[in-house]
Amino acid sequence: MPDLKVNLAGLKLRNPVLTAAGPAARDGMTLLNAATGGAGGLVAKTVSIKPAEVPNPNITALGRGRVKSRRGLLNAELWSEIPLSQWLEREYPIALSSGLPVIASVGYTPEEVAEIAPKIEDAGVQAIEFSTHYVGGHVEIAKALKDAVDIPIFAKLSPKVDVVAVAKEIEKHVDGIVAINTYGPCLRIDIETGKPFLGSDGGEGWLSGAALKPIAMRCVADIASAVDIPVIAVGGVSSGEDSIEFMMAGASAVQVCTAAILEGQTVYGRIAGEMSDWLKEHQYESVSQLTGLALPHLKEKHSLRGKPQVNLEKCTLCGLCEKSCVYNAITVNKKKDFFGIDEDRCQRCGMCISVCPFYALSVG
Ligand SMILES: Cc1cc2nc3c(=O)[nH]c(=O)nc-3n(C[C@H](O)[C@H](O)[C@H](O)COP(=O)(O)O)c2cc1C
Repeated sequence: MPDLKVNLAGLKLRNPVLTAAGPAARDGMTLLNAATGGAGGLVAKTVSIKPAEVPNPNITALGRGRVKSRRGLLNAELWSEIPLSQWLEREYPIALSSGLPVIASVGYTPEEVAEIAPKIEDAGVQAIEFSTHYVGGHVEIAKALKDAVDIPIFAKLSPKVDVVAVAKEIEKHVDGIVAINTYGPCLRIDIETGKPFLGSDGGEGWLSGAALKPIAMRCVADIASAVDIPVIAVGGVSSGEDSIEFMMAGASAVQVCTAAILEGQTVYGRIAGEMSDWLKEHQYESVSQLTGLALPHLKEKHSLRGKPQVNLEKCTLCGLCEKSCVYNAITVNKKKDFFGIDEDRCQRCGMCISVCPFYALSVG
């Protein structure tokens, strides 16, 4: 079996799939369920000096129905509605009883986090992540936390900042970088009522899930290329393949929020299992071997020059590639058991390769 264990700034994770600050990490019991569901470590919902007063409704799936909703969510949730005292006395101890490393998330000003963090460290929590979502001021917050506690500190970045500049600026003050938080503000309107879905000011919400993943990928790769501390990827992870992609882009571990909201607390174990299967199939001994594998290729010029090819052993003649070929270069006829590519029409755009669910197409 491939080794899924990861050492993240001294935290020993049984696998690289963590919970993320959000409703699927909202209290001790939820975190304990995530541990039972196979998470490698537990990141808790953000806490601050005062409990949040959250608008309702505050989460909406993008599109109705099971498949569409996997595109993502908009949310207008803030930080935890549970008071800090309850986290310290009840929620963190319950999460810690899982035996997994627990990472608290704190916000927001340097003064606030300096007051909260030592109490969290005293409660036995093994690391602290800080969110700069509403405030910025990364270096000041990082310094305040470093002065206040001895446990590892992770900075969680918003995709709205220059992530490379911020990462370089805070590198020496933190033990790792978490990328990214949600993107926005965004909007969704219910056409049956003409009203926004969310109860926030202007109905605005923040984007997460599959739609966020390519933005998160770019941020993770850029940060990992710029700094020497671990990067933890978050944004649209819902499968083992997503996690592997993020690790190849430089991540040492991943966090999962939206997929846990949509699927439940067994999502972490499913994703870790899929990673293990993939590693075995591709003959890797350890998941850590993946970290940063793709980064050298991002500096090369990448182009498709060869002829398009189909592997007929893998092709099911489903026709998805034919439908999405805007150059009409592909012809599929299931009845006649025929697959043809017109090489003169084909522009090597790469679309057919990316839509094929069976990995049957390639261009040299
Ligand atoms: C409903 C909801 C609540 C969230 N609450 C927090 C939070 O309290 N603190 C935080 O740092 N990020 C929060 N996030 C952001 C997630 O931790 C994560 O960075 C983002 O959703 C992208 O990951 P995902 O695509 O797996 O959801 C929240 C996200 C959602 C959807």
